[in-house]
Amino acid sequence: MIKEITQEKKQVLELLLLADPSQEMVERYLEKGILLVYEERGEKIGEIVLYPVAPGEWEIKNIAVAPKAQKRGIGRLLLQAAQSRCLPGDRLIVGTADISRGAVHFYESCGFVRYDVIKNFFVDNYPQPVIDEGEVCIDMVLLEKRIK
Ligand SMILES: CC(C)(COP(=O)(O)OP(=O)(O)OC[C@H]1O[C@@H](n2cnc3c(N)ncnc32)[C@H](O)[C@@H]1OP(=O)(O)O)[C@@H](O)C(=O)NCCC(=O)NCCS
Repeated sequence: MIKEITQEKKQVLELLLLADPSQEMVERYLEKGILLVYEERGEKIGEIVLYPVAPGEWEIKNIAVAPKAQKRGIGRLLLQAAQSRCLPGDRLIVGTADISRGAVHFYESCGFVRYDVIKNFFVDNYPQPVIDEGEVCIDMVLLEKRIK
């Protein structure tokens, strides 16, 4: 079951930090972002944060599924739930480390296409090195999808 959480959003901080290691960054977008959570037998095992960037434009700021529940289609369901909050014609964007082959493949398999790269994003915006799949993240790849 997917539901929106509007109070005490930090109850899913552990999941949020799986996708974004900086609690400071998470707190910056969590208040204004729409937080949707996937719950199974009373346990919150997935989340997505949809953030309004501008009229007609949204950004996926965070998406994570608990490791034990990954590759079961929950991430795709969370993305679909976020998309259903947008209007036809809206643009949905997401940024991820260019070395995150898993994440890039995940977004591409859900209909996103690459449109830009922000050089040195992870070096310039995080105080500590960000490690993903055993590699240091440097550049961010941006992907987009037009809502039908
Ligand atoms: C990325 C993440 C949210 C995907 O969630 P998930 O529930 O495991 O994904 P799904 O089971 O819905 O998979 C949907 C598609 O993405 C693909 N996919 C998901 N994770 C993948 C991975 N690590 N490597 C390659 N493909 C992957 C699946 O194979 C599937 O594609 P298919 O239908 O062609 O087989 C999850 O792996 C996660 O929480 N990762 C840690 C946090 C993170 O990296 N968040 C994103 C940062 S921007």
